[in-house]
Amino acid sequence: MKALQFLTISGVFLTLTISCVQTEKMEKMTLRTAYADDFYIGAALGWGQILAEDSVESSLIKNEFSSLSPENAMKWMYVHPKPDTFNFEYTDKIVAMANRNDQFMIGHTLIWHNQTPEWVFKDGNDALIDSSALFGRMKHHINTIMGRYQGRIGGYDVVNEALNDDGTFRESMFYQIGGVDFIYKAFEYAAQADPEAELYYNDYSMNRAEKCDGAVRLAEALKSRGLRIDGIGMQGHWGLDRPTLEEIETSILKIRNAGLKVMITELDITVLPNPRNVEGADLSASFENNAEANPYKVGLPDSVQEALAQRYADLFKLFHKHRETITRVTFWGVHDGQSWKNNWPARGRTDYPLLFDRSLAPKPAYQAVLGVVGK
Ligand code: G3I
Repeated sequence: MKALQFLTISGVFLTLTISCVQTEKMEKMTLRTAYADDFYIGAALGWGQILAEDSVESSLIKNEFSSLSPENAMKWMYVHPKPDTFNFEYTDKIVAMANRNDQFMIGHTLIWHNQTPEWVFKDGNDALIDSSALFGRMKHHINTIMGRYQGRIGGYDVVNEALNDDGTFRESMFYQIGGVDFIYKAFEYAAQADPEAELYYNDYSMNRAEKCDGAVRLAEALKSRGLRIDGIGMQGHWGLDRPTLEEIETSILKIRNAGLKVMITELDITVLPNPRNVEGADLSASFENNAEANPYKVGLPDSVQEALAQRYADLFKLFHKHRETITRVTFWGVHDGQSWKNNWPARGRTDYPLLFDRSLAPKPAYQAVLGVVGK
């Protein structure tokens, strides 16, 4: 009788223990753990997040994401404001955070036409420098940054947004002075500075056939010169309906077929009106904010919340289908309140593009993304 009682009690105890473990397991499911076997799930961190100003947010960043990018801190004007002045305060902090949290660290970005100080292109008399002087400055910039973080930053957006939407080269200052060689040089210097780091080309509107073709041509040109490029980042500054899943999939396949890894970088889905049909992230394209352009100032209607969740589910189904090719999906921010989409293409709007709301609560879109892998 006593033996029977003991068995019953231990049975109850065992059941309780199993269900506690299961509950704990369910509670611990995050974006990071749900997609652990598929690809990194990244986030771009703003200034305050890098300083870990809010401990609740810092824990969320650690638990939900397996990769980090600095949203702004590594751009040339911040990290290298004067010829002999580097400011590594923020980069040191985010790299230390990623290393501590076992997160794959991305160096965004080495060479970009935006946020690069004027002095990079000029001599003491305010005249434009020649290509060899420009390449010397690029080499110094790349060597100093990549040398400092060797073994701690896993991949770099070596060149960012060097193409127009039709696949031709953007007439940036880098291009005007250095021609297409500025891109070859950037990849050459980067490969020398840290042979272990992955090297990427990163751009928006890569769902456009001509632009994607241009990026693939560029990668092939690099390879034909014996230079290394490991992957292409498709920035995901997208909307609820555009681009189509078919367009995105076609580009993923084109990049894969060129023997390159694909990253979905800078993902955010705007829910706001787009009267001028502005796509991508061209910072010079913008329009005036007004009541019509900013309809969800006080909250997002359920129907739009659901449409956003569905869009994220559809996108993640596609990404998961191509998990052999896609190595990382990075959100451009952690929560809606910090998103650059609140200020572009019109300033001062209230957008809802990410998976966490302004108080850091997970949105229905978050559950939808977990739901794709049955979590
Ligand atoms: O540095 C000034 C600071 O001195 C000033 O007090 C403050 C006042 O607003 O502005 C600061 O500069 C802002 C900067 O971010 C740093 O916070 C700029 O106004 C603002 O325009 C800038 O926006 C960033 C934008 O890149 C331009 O660098 C966005 O936060 C960032 O999300 C966005 O990210 C880019 C990717 O790097 C590349 N792909 C497109 C993507 C979206 O534009």
